Amino acid sequence: MSAAAPQKLPAYEWEPTTDFLAARYGLARESIVRFDVNTSPLAPDLRDVLAGSFDPPLCEYPPSDYASLVGAAAAAYEVMPQELLPTAGADEALDLIARASLKEGSVAVVAAPTYAMYRIVSEQRRARVIAVPRLGPESAFGLDIPALVEAARGAQMVWLCEPNNPTGAFEAPERIGELLAAVESDALRDRREAPVVAVDEAYAEFVGRTALPLRRDYPRLVVVRTLSKAHALAGIRVGFAIARPETLAPILSFRAPASVGTVSAALATASLSRPELAAGNVARIAAQRVRLADELTAIGWRPYPSQANFILVRFTSAGSAATAAEALLRKGLVPRTFGIDHPLADCLRLTVRSAEENDRLIDAARGIPA
Ligand SMILES: Cc1ncc(COP(=O)(O)O)c(C=O)c1O
Repeated sequence: MSAAAPQKLPAYEWEPTTDFLAARYGLARESIVRFDVNTSPLAPDLRDVLAGSFDPPLCEYPPSDYASLVGAAAAAYEVMPQELLPTAGADEALDLIARASLKEGSVAVVAAPTYAMYRIVSEQRRARVIAVPRLGPESAFGLDIPALVEAARGAQMVWLCEPNNPTGAFEAPERIGELLAAVESDALRDRREAPVVAVDEAYAEFVGRTALPLRRDYPRLVVVRTLSKAHALAGIRVGFAIARPETLAPILSFRAPASVGTVSAALATASLSRPELAAGNVARIAAQRVRLADELTAIGWRPYPSQANFILVRFTSAGSAATAAEALLRKGLVPRTFGIDHPLADCLRLTVRSAEENDRLIDAARGIPA
């Protein structure tokens, strides 16, 4: 009897690295600007934290309860400490939720197009993914709630992203509540456990609204947050899964001991305790988002409305999106592209960055047909 060939599991794909692009296009490394990863242009000034001493010192493991980090996050997100699980970025939270909720033969529902990791972590658990298309751009890429509820029957998980990457669309928490109510009442009627509904709020601070209060009524809700976007701290890799303690417990059991380092925990604690830092960043980016969208529109590009720190721009064809991407890369500006099979193959996603960096993008865009 021969063993079945191992099935190839999907993995996340980045755009090429800055070093690779510098070598390929003959550019100075420092001249390259990343418009592809939805990060912020400038890290907050936390030099005092880095210059101080760490408690416990770096020769020890961080405390297993991350009490300071969890305390700061509980205050910032207005939840109880026992509802918070600190993780190495939102991505670790997504992986742990999938591990706790899915196994071979499970079904996971995604509202597509959306962040690639939901499909990836689900398929890595050998779950089957049902992609429910979002409504079209004329309906602001909204959620098709009846279709999601239908697909969720018999599913173990539903993945939502609010605001949604890569469309920038946002569905109000009231609508997420409608979906949760329908999904949970279906499960009650059919006498089965309701699916876990994960709402990834990586960009929530840019819209200022959250689904978190819904956890009081819907125990299967898990919200995911991160320090990578509004807090401008993608390099420290800190995020959270937030849910009622009984929902969080199985997720916690999959985390490796101390997956968030002491330096990262200290920086995240400081940033969460100084809300003016993230608020300032959000305000600057919101102003730049309006300007970038207006200027791109003025030169004939077609950006969709966005509630996050990035803008999705549609081109006349996948070919013209690829040509535009190549023209931007030659100038050291890195857009996010979508594969040829992707429903957004004719789009590029552009991170909103500093005024000077956005100026470079706008100048470059002038010479590139949309
Ligand atoms: C929707 C969404 N979730 C999660 C992440 C990953 O966040 P983190 O850096 O916290 O792992 C990203 C990063 O782009 C994202 O867009």
